[in-house]
Amino acid sequence: MAIRWVAGFVLVVFTGLILTSPPVRGQLTPDYYESCPYLESTVKSIVESAVDNETRLAASLLRLHFHDCFVDGCDGSVLLDDTDTFTGEKNALPNANSIRGFQVIDDIKSALEEIEGCQGVVSCADILTIAARDAVVKAGGPTWTVELGRYDSLTASKENAEAFLPSPFSDVPTLNTKFADVGLNETDLVTLSGGHTFGKAQCGGFSFRLYNFSGTGAPDPTINSTYLSILQESCPDGGDASVLNDLDQGTPNAFDNSYFSNLVINKGLLRSDQVLESTDGSSTQDLVSAFANDQSTFFSQFVISMLKMSAISPKNESQGEIRTNCHFVNSAPSPTSLLVATA
Ligand code: HEM
Ligand SMILES: *[C@@H]1O[C@H](CO)[C@@H](O)[C@H](O)[C@H]1NC(C)=O
Ligand SMILES: *[C@@H]1O[C@H](CO)[C@@H](O)[C@H](O)[C@H]1NC(C)=O
Ligand SMILES: *[C@@H]1O[C@H](CO)[C@@H](O)[C@H](O)[C@H]1NC(C)=O
Ligand SMILES: *[C@@H]1O[C@H](CO)[C@@H](O)[C@H](O)[C@H]1NC(C)=O
Ligand SMILES: *[C@@H]1O[C@H](CO)[C@@H](O)[C@H](O)[C@H]1NC(C)=O
Repeated sequence: MAIRWVAGFVLVVFTGLILTSPPVRGQLTPDYYESCPYLESTVKSIVESAVDNETRLAASLLRLHFHDCFVDGCDGSVLLDDTDTFTGEKNALPNANSIRGFQVIDDIKSALEEIEGCQGVVSCADILTIAARDAVVKAGGPTWTVELGRYDSLTASKENAEAFLPSPFSDVPTLNTKFADVGLNETDLVTLSGGHTFGKAQCGGFSFRLYNFSGTGAPDPTINSTYLSILQESCPDGGDASVLNDLDQGTPNAFDNSYFSNLVINKGLLRSDQVLESTDGSSTQDLVSAFANDQSTFFSQFVISMLKMSAISPKNESQGEIRTNCHFVNSAPSPTSLLVATA
């Protein structure tokens, strides 16, 4: 116990140093775009109408930001299309046929390019950061002040996406390692996993739990039997791996704490969700209970962990650029960027 406590103490000091030492977060500030006062209201109204038209987009936008930040920092790299010179993140295993919401970001970027003072000024990475916050708010979650001033990346890497994004097959130690790789700790892991309180997942991400789990000849014992029947019906053995299921069967579209109350009754959809509750002796269990019991505790920690995730390795002026078209770097003219340039 004493050793654990000492280890925890050392970790606190270490994380504190990372957080308070510039330039990691120092570059970001809420008042970054003084020339573009309508930035946040523009993003908000486009996110709101997109979600009004298709509810799931709120979840998709939050996930897009998460996948951007975990791979080479929050730098819009996830938005880049593949080119002759690099294979980007969109076709990486965790992303292909899965991440979505690009049209919303494009719509926001085009709208901003029409506004004087915003033209050529706002990074795609910052647009994604604001959109993710607005998506959470639109779905009933907490709000917070976003910190801005990220530059967009000049490249993207499929290899890095596959190396850094966590897998739904993982156990708690592996998930902790993935989060630690980007400066996030176990509290952030449990808290941000609460992002699975809305949105959908394909059978392919969890069907290994439903029939012959780890070669045992039986389903994952940590799935509630009522829930198991529902999932088996939706994802028959050897069936279509792309069928969608709600990550939170209780309140599928609301940003609330029901993700955590689900875990308590063995109704987590992904293995990486349920292990947070079902790993005996894991310190993640206490946090799951706390969040299941009190939504406001979850919401306040979610804001803290989101600000931390959104501040992963922001690029500055000498490391990046402000893209004209979120799909391409400025030096690589493409049919679409030419269209934007002449519009
Ligand atoms: C802890 C490690 C995580 C793993 C292993 C994981 C894995 C997954 C998987 C497999 C899906 C379903 C994708 C599909 O079937 O196409 C998914 C969806 C989603 N994830 Fe995660 N995720 C993790 C953390 C997070 C975090 C930190 C957030 C945001 C804070 C997040 C937000 C979402 C959302 C909102 C969806 C639904 C997206 C939609 O409906 O379009 N996830 N995640
Ligand atoms: C983990 O990060 C949170 C902020 O998200 C912080 O409050 C907490 O003290 C950290 N925990 C440890 C053990 O470092
Ligand atoms: C509304 O959502 C549907 C998909 O649900 C999509 O096909 C359509 O383009 C969207 N309309 C607008 C105006 O965004
Ligand atoms: C489950 O998988 C294991 C190894 O993958 C295999 O040997 C076994 O026959 C399977 N059991 C059933 C019931 O399919
Ligand atoms: C399964 O879910 C039901 C509610 O649908 C709950 O009452 C029961 O306690 C859960 N069982 C387990 C083992 O978590
Ligand atoms: C950008 O960040 C890098 C690495 O931290 C640093 O070397 C460089 O001086 C910074 N450039 C500007 C313009 O702040």
